[in-house]
Formats: sequence, structure tokens, C-alpha cells
Amino acid sequence: MKQQVLRMVMAVLAVGMVMHAMIPAANAAGGSAQAKLPAPEGKIVNVAHRGASGHAPEHTIASYELGIAMKADYIEIDLQMTKDDVLVAMHDQAVNRTTNGSGYVRDYMLEELKKLDAGSWFNASFPEKAKPEYAGLQVPTLEEIFQRFGRSTNYYIETKSPAAYPGMEEKLLELMEKYHLTGENGRSGKVIIQSFHPESLLKIHELQPDIPLVQLISRPELGKKANEQLEQIKQYAIGVGPNFSNINKEYVQTVRGHGLLIHPYTVNTEEAMKTALSWGVTGLFTDYPDVFHKVMKKHKR
Ligand code: G3P
Ligand code: CA
Repeated sequence: MKQQVLRMVMAVLAVGMVMHAMIPAANAAGGSAQAKLPAPEGKIVNVAHRGASGHAPEHTIASYELGIAMKADYIEIDLQMTKDDVLVAMHDQAVNRTTNGSGYVRDYMLEELKKLDAGSWFNASFPEKAKPEYAGLQVPTLEEIFQRFGRSTNYYIETKSPAAYPGMEEKLLELMEKYHLTGENGRSGKVIIQSFHPESLLKIHELQPDIPLVQLISRPELGKKANEQLEQIKQYAIGVGPNFSNINKEYVQTVRGHGLLIHPYTVNTEEAMKTALSWGVTGLFTDYPDVFHKVMKKHKR
């Protein structure tokens, strides 16, 4: 069954995954569908993408703290894994863009990775938002993030590159268990796991069917073809996370018609947020959770 679903999902997602791989990094209702989100029915979720990464260096504790202070419902975390198999928060496979180091995370022992400065690049790139305390910030491990925030926030965690990181899913689930984020907390959606890779989500679904999963899709099938893709996804996931640039109102309505959540990425302008809300999205990823909070308040009136 799992193999059959995987083959079908891989086929329908293949085009989108290839397209995602081409996007530059910087821009870049089966069992699971019974899982509930912590947000009340109908609440639109505000996901702080890489933390409040429009205001602070992405994937640092400072960025997550700011996201929570800006009333995000979830902090979004991309996972990479070190040479000694420790899960860390970073978007790119290489450290070059967001630290003062070079090379791949996979080639760093955690101790070496911890010596890198993950904040000064932000001060240099965005002088108008620079803060002295950002200089010297470390790359956080997922465990440090769980230790810092515990169950006080919700986590939207992305498994990256399963081919490069065999065992990532098991490590993630182990840590979630250690910090009491599975079981009832898992079912209630304290953690949503997202991935562009259906094989990663299917593995998690097999190991822990209660955890809500979201299938990321760079280029979703639109029109009539969307139905087949969404029916496959619905077998293991509660929703989809499409690239906002590649969807339209009809697609959002189709997804909702299948009983799935839809959280497009990455929506950063007020205008785009208003458009997404008018189309009926159930949440979105943004680098500016403060702006989305403001837009949602107006939208409700
Ligand atoms: O996880 C949603 C969005 O973050 C997917 O794109 O490349 O920013 O991880 P990316
Ligand atoms: Ca992500």
C-alpha cells in the first residue's frame, strides 16, 4: 500500500519537485487527516517563516522569539543534519549564505558548526534592521529550540533532502517524543511536519500516524488535474503548502473542497496577503508575521 501510494504521489509531484530544486535557495484523509490543529476551527494560521526572518537573521533563536512576540501561531523550522547526525535549523544545505563559514552542514561536526556566526550576515545585508546582538548568534539545534520554547509555541518543521540525510525522520520523532510533542500533543497539532518529499512524509505517517503532515508543492497541478494529486495527498496529509506564485483562487477552492488545509509560501506583502485571504487560504507562511497579523485583523472586520 505504502509503495503504491508513494509511486503515485511521486509521479504527480515529480514536476513540482524538479521545479523547486531549480529555485535559488535564497528565494527560495487517511489517518493523518483525522489530526486536528491547535487553532480553533476556521482560524487562519500565521506561520513565521524561518522565524520572523524579515526582521531578524533566519533560523536563529532571536528570529523565533520575534516570531512568537509578533503573535505567529507557528514557528517554521527547516532541518539539516550535521556530520555527527545532529538536527539543526538551517534552510540551505550549505552554510555559506547565512553564516561566516563555507561548505555543507553535512560536513560539519556540531562543535564546529557552533563556532560559526549566523547573525552578522544579516546586519551586513540589512543595515536598516541590524542589531549588535545579532552578531555572533549560533546555529541552533532542534533540541535547543525545543528546550527554549517547549510547548509554549507550535512548530512547523520541514524535513529537507531525505536522500542526503537518511535517518532524519527517526531523529526528529525521537526528539519530539523526548520533549512530549507526540501522543496527544502530536494529535493536537503542536507540531506539523512538512516536506517537498512525499517519501519523507509517508515514512513519518507510518511511524507516527497521528502527526499532522503537510505536502509542500512548488508547482501544483491546476484545473481538473488537481483532483488526482489532492486525492493522493489526502491519504497521508492534512494539507498542502504550495508556492503562492503558482496558484490561483480556483486552486484554493479546489483544495478546500477536498477537505484539505492550504498554507501557501512565502507571502510577504500586504497586497498578496489580502489576495490569499480573499481566495480562502487557511493560513500562510510569511517572513513578516506582524504584517499578516495586522492584515488579518482588518480582514475580520
Ligand atoms: O516550508 C514552506 C517554505 O519554507 C518552503 O520553501 O524553500 O523556504 O523551505 P523553503
Ligand atoms: Ca521551509
